[in-house]
Amino acid sequence: MKVIMYGVSDDERHHVQAWQDQHQDEIKLVTEPLTKETVALAAGFDGVSTKQVESLDEEVYQQLSAFGIKHLALRIVGYNIVNFDKAHAHGITTVSNVPAYSPRAIAENGLAVALNLLRKISVLQDRERRGDFTLPESLMSEEIYTKTVGVIGVGNIGSASAQLYSALGARVLGYDPIYRANYEPYLTYTDLETVLKEADIITIHTPLDDSTREMLGAKEFALMKPGTIFINQARGGLVDTEAMIAALESGHLGGVGLDVLSSESEFFWKVIEDPAQLPADYQRLAKMPNAIVTPHSAYYTQTAVRNMVMQSLEDIRRFLNGQKPLYVVDL
Ligand code: COI
Repeated sequence: MKVIMYGVSDDERHHVQAWQDQHQDEIKLVTEPLTKETVALAAGFDGVSTKQVESLDEEVYQQLSAFGIKHLALRIVGYNIVNFDKAHAHGITTVSNVPAYSPRAIAENGLAVALNLLRKISVLQDRERRGDFTLPESLMSEEIYTKTVGVIGVGNIGSASAQLYSALGARVLGYDPIYRANYEPYLTYTDLETVLKEADIITIHTPLDDSTREMLGAKEFALMKPGTIFINQARGGLVDTEAMIAALESGHLGGVGLDVLSSESEFFWKVIEDPAQLPADYQRLAKMPNAIVTPHSAYYTQTAVRNMVMQSLEDIRRFLNGQKPLYVVDL
C-alpha cells in the first residue's frame, strides 16, 4: 500500500521504518499537518494518517475523496478535528483513531502535575531560585489520601487516572453519561454537580464535541471548592478559558495543570522567539506560580508514540484490504 502520514515528528520515524521492514509499504512522511495547503501531497496515495490539533478544512475532505481516499486514519485519540457531516458529505466514509495508545501515559502525567500542585513543588522551587528558602504556612500541604478526586469523563484515560488516584488512597468520584461497572473498584459514580462540589482535585477526560464544548464555565468553577486543583489534558475547548483563568486569578482555584489550551495550535510544538507573540491566555497563566502549562505532552511516551504509528497503519491496512478498521470512530 502507499500511505502518506502528516504531522510526523522525528520520534515516529523509526516506528514507521519498523513497519516498512515488515510490510514493504511505500510511506511518505510529511512534518506539516493535513490542511488545504498540504492535502495535494496525498495525490496518488491509497491511505492517509495524521497527528495534529488543527481542525481539518472542508477542502481536505473534498480533495482526499477526489484522490480516491475514503478512510482517514487519525494517529491520536481526539477526533474533534473532524467535521463528520462534512467528511461524510464529501465521501470520506470511515474515520479511525487510536483510542488507547496509552491511557497510562496521560494518567501518570496528570497525577504528576496534580501532586506537584498539591505539594506546591513548582511554587517552592520558584521561591528557592529567587533565594527564598523559607516555609510560610500558606505553603503547607496535605496528603493525597485525605483528598477527593473528581474524574469528569470516565473512559480509557479517565478510568486509568481513577485507578492511580485510588491506589494512593484518595476517594475518587466519577462522572460520565456511560456507566461501566468495571470501573467501580476505582471510583464512585455520581452526577457532575457532586463532582464539582466535593472534589479537591478535578481532572477532565471528556471528548470535545458540540455537547461538551465549554461544559465548564463560570457557574461550574464557582461550584468548585475554594482551593480546588483543576487538571485538563483533554481539550482546551472543554472549558471557558476566561472563566477558568478568572477563577485562578481570584484565588478560588488552588492551581491548574493544563496540557491543552484553546489557543494551543498558535504556539504548542513551535519555538516562539518573541514572548509578546504568545496568546493572551497563556501570558496570563505564565504569571501564575500555581499554573503548570505543558505543551500537549501528556501523551508523550515511548509506548504511546509506537502505538500511535503502528495501530494507525494497521487500520489503514485493514481498510484497504476490505476489512473494518479496528478503531472506527462511530458517531
Ligand atoms: C490525542 O491523542 O488526542 C492527543 O491529545 C495527543 C495528540 C494530539 C498528540
